[in-house]
Amino acid sequence: MKPYVLGKSIFFREVMIEDAEFIIKLRTDPEKSRHISVTSGDIEKQKGFIASYLQSQTEYYFVICDLNRRSIGTIRIYDVRDNSFCWGSWILADDAPRNAAIESALLIYDFAFFSLHYQKSHFDVRKKNIKVVDFHKRFGALIVGEDDLNYYFEYDRATYLNLRPKYQRYLP
Ligand SMILES: CC(C)(COP(=O)(O)OP(=O)(O)OC[C@H]1O[C@@H](n2cnc3c(N)ncnc32)[C@H](O)[C@@H]1OP(=O)(O)O)[C@@H](O)C(=O)NCCC(=O)NCCS
Repeated sequence: MKPYVLGKSIFFREVMIEDAEFIIKLRTDPEKSRHISVTSGDIEKQKGFIASYLQSQTEYYFVICDLNRRSIGTIRIYDVRDNSFCWGSWILADDAPRNAAIESALLIYDFAFFSLHYQKSHFDVRKKNIKVVDFHKRFGALIVGEDDLNYYFEYDRATYLNLRPKYQRYLP
């Protein structure tokens, strides 16, 4: 079982088979799913996806929870390459607390850079997902490539270390 990751007003816990329904609900929401890969509404398929993830040693699929243990979103580390990790499956429910986006981004970087010791991160964002593209730019992530659909970003530990003190109030 993967570790819990504790933030200021949220924490991450590893996904369980029983989260399949919550994940489908989140990922098939018409508004939330506009800029992410298509998810089937088939609960058995989702359970199968979670079961195969649970075999992985290098991936981390977390449910984001508030401190009352309520599930409020998901976030995932996957496609790890040497010293770089990819993160995504980042979705928050509409009733997530206001700071949950910033807190969850900080927490995934803290965990991956400091606990897992990766030096870099790579991830892609749909060009039309303007709010999320801007979010990553504000953190100092660099666009290193693009195609018709996506921007490809990179982010390194040194940039995060410079930014982190400004966000201290969102950290535990
Ligand atoms: C991706 C997702 C989790 C981001 O959460 P979000 O709440 O939309 O994130 P926001 O950019 O609105 O940030 C939340 C708040 O923090 C603020 N904020 C964000 N980055 C900030 C920064 N660097 N400094 C200060 N404030 C910041 C925002 O202004 C916003 O404040 P507001 O509520 O007063 O407007 C959410 O949009 C979502 O679930 N999207 C659907 C799935 C998706 O597209 N995922 C990404 C795939 S790549």
